[in-house]
Amino acid sequence: MTSRFQMFERISAVTASFLIVLLAGCGGSGPESELTFAVGGAPNEVAFWETLVKEFEKDSALPVRIIRQPADTDQRRQGLVVPLRSGQADPDVFLMDVAWLGQFAASGWLHSLDEFVQKDDYHAGFFFKRVIELADRQDAQLLALPVNVDAGLLYYRRDLLERFGYGAPPRTWEELVAMSGRIQGEMRKTETGFWGYVWQGARYEGLVCNFLEVAASNGGGFDTTDGGIQVDTPKNREALQFMHDLIYEWRVSPPNTFTEMKEEEVRAHFQNGLALFERNWPYAWALHNAPESPVRGKVGIAPLPHFEKGESAATLGGWHIGISTTSDRKEAGWNFIKFVTSLETQKRMVTELGWNSARRDVYQDAGLLEQYPRLEPLREIMNHAVPRPLVPYYTQLSEALQSRINGALAGQASPEEALRRADEDMAQLVKRYRGE
Ligand code: GLC
Repeated sequence: MTSRFQMFERISAVTASFLIVLLAGCGGSGPESELTFAVGGAPNEVAFWETLVKEFEKDSALPVRIIRQPADTDQRRQGLVVPLRSGQADPDVFLMDVAWLGQFAASGWLHSLDEFVQKDDYHAGFFFKRVIELADRQDAQLLALPVNVDAGLLYYRRDLLERFGYGAPPRTWEELVAMSGRIQGEMRKTETGFWGYVWQGARYEGLVCNFLEVAASNGGGFDTTDGGIQVDTPKNREALQFMHDLIYEWRVSPPNTFTEMKEEEVRAHFQNGLALFERNWPYAWALHNAPESPVRGKVGIAPLPHFEKGESAATLGGWHIGISTTSDRKEAGWNFIKFVTSLETQKRMVTELGWNSARRDVYQDAGLLEQYPRLEPLREIMNHAVPRPLVPYYTQLSEALQSRINGALAGQASPEEALRRADEDMAQLVKRYRGE
């Protein structure tokens, strides 16, 4: 399996070697005793990791060097694939998007945690079973542990809904469009850059997450009934048409949705007071309510809307931590993983970053639940969140899908054509992967 997969990946090897040359020029590995940890994210997240690492160093006397990564998941993956593919010792430990776990496992890049877990009696039972089974345990081995669980949410301006006489956030997409149209019209009288609904439509992984949510809220999603992976179904076409119409038909989402809008762009727009509704992950909550935020105290969160006959759906996201097979600091890496996934640190992730933990005991902490009442509903959303396919070739599959869906949003193809083409691309990929 591994060798076929590596063959399959050869196409990207040329780009990888080029990047290795670049990386080599940026200073090689540090002192041998140092543990290297690759992590990225929004600026406040990186600051959080820096503090955490300092505390770990103090407690353990183990020096740690952070290899800083960007916020965009695709760029973070690329930054890891390069050293891992070439068997470098650094980074020893890294965070991985749940979407990459199939690829990382099949490539043999993840050191099994089973020996450590057994030795320390630090069992996978601390975490939600669904998350471990959907992501961390593969081929009967525990290859990673969850650091946080993400699920897409609707953020809304509580103050504006109240001002315009709405008692609750929208339950259906139709309601979202109606509220957006009306309030956007009113707000534009003084604020010309105001939009009804901002979401992630740029050509990257976040677009697949947004598409999956809208599709699943119409009873659609990835269709795996005939053993392959398909998206060209009537329900998905309706979903994509709706995403397109948000921009062109009802004009409640900005035209730069498909060129620029990723998590941080969307968050900034909403946070600057320029949108009524926003689709984002739980991390945006703490930032919207930070002291300097213009929307502090004015924001509510709710499950994402759904089509009249469907149900609300959230994509299962989140980040997991693992040790590289070629790390020369595996024992130290494990100590760091235990620290990051400990109850203490996980509670801080809730209070300081607003992240969702995958540890069950976090949700049993009465004091924390009282202080953060939204934890309870978030756990529910998270437990029903829709996963992306856990296949070794997910990255390639996602790239094909991103390009086709984004093309439909850009008006280059109809939703029908885009999804039909996506199916053709994906079928080719699966064939190539299976060596047919
Ligand atoms: C978040 C999610 C991750 C997802 C990414 C898409 O980081 O946790 O799973 O792939 O957003 O942009």
